[in-house]
Amino acid sequence: MNNKFEAIEQKVLEKIKPKPEEYREIKKVFNRIKEVIESILEKNKVKAEITLQGSIAHDTWLSGDHDLDIFVLFPKNWEIEELKTRGFNLLLEAAKIIGDYEIKYAEHPYVRVRVNDFQIDLVPAYKLEKSSEIKTAVDRTPFHTKYLNNRLNNYLRDQVRLLKQFMKSIGVYGAEQKTKGFSGYAVELLIIKHGSFRKLLLEAEKWKHPVFINTLESDALFKKIRSKLVRKYPESVIYMPDPVDPLRNVTAAVSLKSLATFVIASRCYLNNPSENYFFPIQESDEERIITALDKRCILLLEISMDEKLSPEIIWGELQRIGDRGAKVLKNNDFRVIHFSVYTDEEKYAYIVYELDQCTKNYPREYIGPEYWTGNRTLNFIKAHLLRQSFGPWINEEGKLVSLGQRKYIDAIKLLIDRTWEYLVTPHFKNKKLIVKRITREEINNLRSTRGLYEWIKGFILKRPHWMEYCIE
Ligand code: UTP
Ligand code: MN
Repeated sequence: MNNKFEAIEQKVLEKIKPKPEEYREIKKVFNRIKEVIESILEKNKVKAEITLQGSIAHDTWLSGDHDLDIFVLFPKNWEIEELKTRGFNLLLEAAKIIGDYEIKYAEHPYVRVRVNDFQIDLVPAYKLEKSSEIKTAVDRTPFHTKYLNNRLNNYLRDQVRLLKQFMKSIGVYGAEQKTKGFSGYAVELLIIKHGSFRKLLLEAEKWKHPVFINTLESDALFKKIRSKLVRKYPESVIYMPDPVDPLRNVTAAVSLKSLATFVIASRCYLNNPSENYFFPIQESDEERIITALDKRCILLLEISMDEKLSPEIIWGELQRIGDRGAKVLKNNDFRVIHFSVYTDEEKYAYIVYELDQCTKNYPREYIGPEYWTGNRTLNFIKAHLLRQSFGPWINEEGKLVSLGQRKYIDAIKLLIDRTWEYLVTPHFKNKKLIVKRITREEINNLRSTRGLYEWIKGFILKRPHWMEYCIE
């Protein structure tokens, strides 16, 4: 039985392990960048250490992934301000020599440069001896690298790669707002904790939130900080303390949807393993998509963006708008069966809602207050006497109920009229918005926009690709 798993996982590893040429290529790029930064530091008489971090330094990266995390570690006696301006500007100067660059903002600004198909982040941080000296989020990273390289061996590194690929394929890899899933570091800790990809899945298929994973040396220490962690991250569904900074939850970003997806996909893989879990195969069932549209109410909202924003802001605000819009629909008696958001991160942001019906022609039930709420009952009666309602009447639960006219019989009109009620976040307020139903004709116009069409297709078909293989 285990042979079946092993054979699959071996085959996957052959595809996802980086090739010797890729290692050589990365080394070349790193050395070139290092030389440039060194010369800049020398010219400015600054002593700093240029280090490679992240999955390249841990040797847990996937073939084809060409992003380098380069952290330049400045003296710890520098003020934070000095690091953010002087340190950052030195890296910016280097970036200008290296190639195309852009400035990025996390907790602090850093620089992203491109060399061929490599994406390199140049991050200023402090050179510290002990993790207790950590001053900013990025200062943890060098300690992560030390921690991991003390514990990972080649077997575990491959197991990390399997888990990363699996999570990527099912859409739960990455701690960004877009995904709200597991970071690379979380994956590495999970493998160290459980010993292998499959051992972890055997645990994960039994998870129920809140999940607690002790990544610390002792159970006693874990017990001590557990309640503090919950208080600090009340919304988290999975708790995993960072061994180099135990009061930080490494899996704070994981959403309930991502956790549930991982748990069910784990069970499916263990039930009926296949390479397909690791590599989504594109089913192109165009006929099925088109005929589905005739019978369903799917509304697309397109919001135009006219300023450059960070992906974290766009995805974060867009999800909030999606939630708000769903509430507006619900308050007007439209049932939202499913919704999703998408953005090209440049010009457009989109929301899709699937409703039970696009228009509602019959009167609507208004549930009023309970009989014991005093004047609220009078107010309800008054409001409905004034309208062309049937009722109010009193139901078996002792509540007033009335059957009355709807404010909106058309969900599209509702979404257009009441934009101000849900397009409320700082960067999207007052932006131009179009609402339309996705019909056979409309889907043709979307087909030419790659990412958008893939997302819509997934939304229409609903079932995640890997679920096809769940049952033998
Ligand atoms: P990356 O996001 O580049 O992850 O963060 P990674 O480990 O290199 O994985 P891949 O293969 O590129 O996807 C680089 C480092 O930043 C810290 C970790 O120390 C990580 O190793 N980090 C980043 C976190 O601790 N948490 C995060 O959410 C993101
Ligand atoms: Mn990385």
